[in-house]
Amino acid sequence: MRRLTRVPGLRGSLTVPGDKSISHRAVMLGALAEGDTTISGFLKGADCLSTIDCFRQMGIRIEESHDIIRVHGKGLHGLRAPSATLNVGNSGTTTRLLAGILAGQSFNSALSGDASLNARPMNRIIKPLTMMGAGIRSAGNNGCAPLLIEGRPLEPVHYISPVASAQVKSCVLLAGLYARGESSVTEPALSRDHTERMLRAFGADVRSQGNTCRIIPPDSLYGRHIDVPGDISSAAYFIAAGLITPGSEIEIRNVGINDTRSGILRVCQDMGADITYLNRREAGGEPAADLLVRTSDLTGTVIEGDIIPTLIDELPVIALMACFARGETVIRDARELRVKESDRIELVSRHLAAMGADVIPTEDGFIINSRQGAGSPPVLHGAPISCFLDHRIAMTFAVAGLNAEGETLIADSQCVDVSYPGFFEQLEKLHCQKPK
Ligand code: S3P
Repeated sequence: MRRLTRVPGLRGSLTVPGDKSISHRAVMLGALAEGDTTISGFLKGADCLSTIDCFRQMGIRIEESHDIIRVHGKGLHGLRAPSATLNVGNSGTTTRLLAGILAGQSFNSALSGDASLNARPMNRIIKPLTMMGAGIRSAGNNGCAPLLIEGRPLEPVHYISPVASAQVKSCVLLAGLYARGESSVTEPALSRDHTERMLRAFGADVRSQGNTCRIIPPDSLYGRHIDVPGDISSAAYFIAAGLITPGSEIEIRNVGINDTRSGILRVCQDMGADITYLNRREAGGEPAADLLVRTSDLTGTVIEGDIIPTLIDELPVIALMACFARGETVIRDARELRVKESDRIELVSRHLAAMGADVIPTEDGFIINSRQGAGSPPVLHGAPISCFLDHRIAMTFAVAGLNAEGETLIADSQCVDVSYPGFFEQLEKLHCQKPK
């Protein structure tokens, strides 16, 4: 349980933890590579630790020191059969990417997670994997995990995905490592491209053109060092907090700003945000920068179409920002929010409305109206918040609580550990800083 109240301003600098998507992929490809892979900046959140546990159960030695993870890769055919069901916890990325890898093994396996995970749709990967000849089915015949997988050689596929999902794309590309020829995935809009970038870095022939990506199965992948940049999805809470909390100035160091992830920065610019990019550079084959965020007078905007996959995880906190942006904000084409760790359209709308916001949930997004900008009296009042095992709900409403009259109580706040252990402590440090 966490209790949040209004703060006079947030000041200081911080480094957010490593990117969750990149951390998962580094362990997975490291396990399938020849030789060792070392990972710096790895996110030790519960989701990525689930990925580590799963590979350990398949015979991969993974050493964790303070700031380096060492994965002793055993090659594409070096995994051994797990002796029990692999526990994927709350992690959709572990489930869907690992299913692609497991489909091509010479052993059978099963995957299962927590209540939230086991309610999420898996037909989106069962379908393309089945087209590849995989033996995969939902144990409860309900299109959800637990998943039962009979490993076998796979056929190539040219899959046209109905959803812009990096997890679906990555599942097919990873299964494609084990196919008898070239496979491809075409998605309706480009989703995050970390798998493609990292497969190339490990030596695979992966080509992207528009929204299509192809993989030619390699003989081997080769271990290497991966330096994981900070997670923009974690930085998003501090970006929003800095923009809407009066009297704030926050420097967020080493944030990954890959175009396929950084839609929130384009939206912030449209809304009139004061964000300066400092020290642009490359980290682990990914663009990164430090961001200087100052309280801003925001205006409403329309968020729709191809930008949606590039900010999908940030939409809850963007919806919060919209409550502090003068005028109307419309978010559409984001139906995927309904099948995340929770139904984020329903939960975000319900909690924002309980805090006094003018928010209308739609089938695929939100319509939010606000008459006030930053610096005006708070538009929200405190409320009790339940997170339903959804870390992004907890962090969004922590930021809301800092800008609401009265108390905001976040019930199951420990779920932030999924992607951001230490989140509340870092937030607290910023509001302990004296205003200038
Ligand atoms: C992820 C892809 C996205 C995102 C998730 C992480 C990934 O999911 O929401 O948090 O690492 O590939 P979808 O592929 O379902 O959009």
